[in-house]
Amino acid sequence: MARLEVTIGGLQLRNPVMTASGTFGYGTEYTDFMDLNRLGGMIVKGTTLEPRQGNDYPRMAETPSGMLNAVGLQNKGVDYFVEHLYPVIKEYDTHIIVNVSGSTVEDYVACTEKLAGLEKIPAIELNISCPNVKEGGMAFGTTCASAARVTHAVRQVYPGTLIVKLSPNVTDIAEIARSVEAEGADAVSLVNTFLGMAIDVERRKPKLSTVTGGLSGPCIKPIAVRMVWQVYHAVGIPVIGMGGICNWQDAIEFILAGATAIQVGTCNFVDPAVTVKIVRGIREYMERHGIASVSELVGGMELF
Ligand SMILES: Cc1cc2nc3c(=O)[nH]c(=O)nc-3n(C[C@H](O)[C@H](O)[C@H](O)COP(=O)(O)O)c2cc1C
Repeated sequence: MARLEVTIGGLQLRNPVMTASGTFGYGTEYTDFMDLNRLGGMIVKGTTLEPRQGNDYPRMAETPSGMLNAVGLQNKGVDYFVEHLYPVIKEYDTHIIVNVSGSTVEDYVACTEKLAGLEKIPAIELNISCPNVKEGGMAFGTTCASAARVTHAVRQVYPGTLIVKLSPNVTDIAEIARSVEAEGADAVSLVNTFLGMAIDVERRKPKLSTVTGGLSGPCIKPIAVRMVWQVYHAVGIPVIGMGGICNWQDAIEFILAGATAIQVGTCNFVDPAVTVKIVRGIREYMERHGIASVSELVGGMELF
């Protein structure tokens, strides 16, 4: 019998499949389609210290094999999360991870402190990579010094599992990963969206109100796989991979590149039950290949 459990910091996930922040709400919207308790984990929407309205519309545009978004971290703020959303989602039997976003180091720290005492939130994912707001954190993820600074500050106040979500909009993602590992990150997740844009040629206007936005979906997968592979060889902490994963083959590809666990984002919009199908596909693949544990596959790509 194939064992799908994986370990990320202090978390034992029942399988390596999680949902990516901003693409799965708080899970409640998906319960008609799937059993959330079959997920390895669920990363909830980017949460900030204060409520945010998000960007003006239009803030979504379809692209070949993907989408651009400029939602801009719309959320009701951490106090609302603690008071109204946490009591509902804490009943799920899966790991719930809050994606923490901010504009200043102080914001990240204050938001994290409000989450630190919640028994059923065993981990946070520090979003230092959102490209969709003026000061949405991507600035923190694009230099080693600022990535290290925010990770260091949050590590001081957060005893739980600290995952740092990296931006792909950099020259060398491996060196950013090393800098957050050195400040005590328990794991890194990658990638967030790639900065992109699209123009409506009839109207000669940008398709997004913010002009630029974040590109996600299958079109980014080969770049994301390359980045996971580079980061896997640069750090000793677990890597959580994402970027265009739509089926079990994609998930296995990320795991062979070095991901201990994976997240599914944009493809939840195409098939709301895709994650449970991916879990089944990974199990069948492992059984077919006589693989007892996911750990045997992590980074298992063989060179010629
Ligand atoms: C509509 C939308 C909203 C997102 N919101 C967030 C967010 O709040 N925080 C975050 O870290 N990433 C956010 N992301 C990025 C995803 O979590 C993920 O990193 C990215 O989309 C790549 O994975 P995918 O190609 O499977 O979607 C968002 C992505 C989309 C499409």
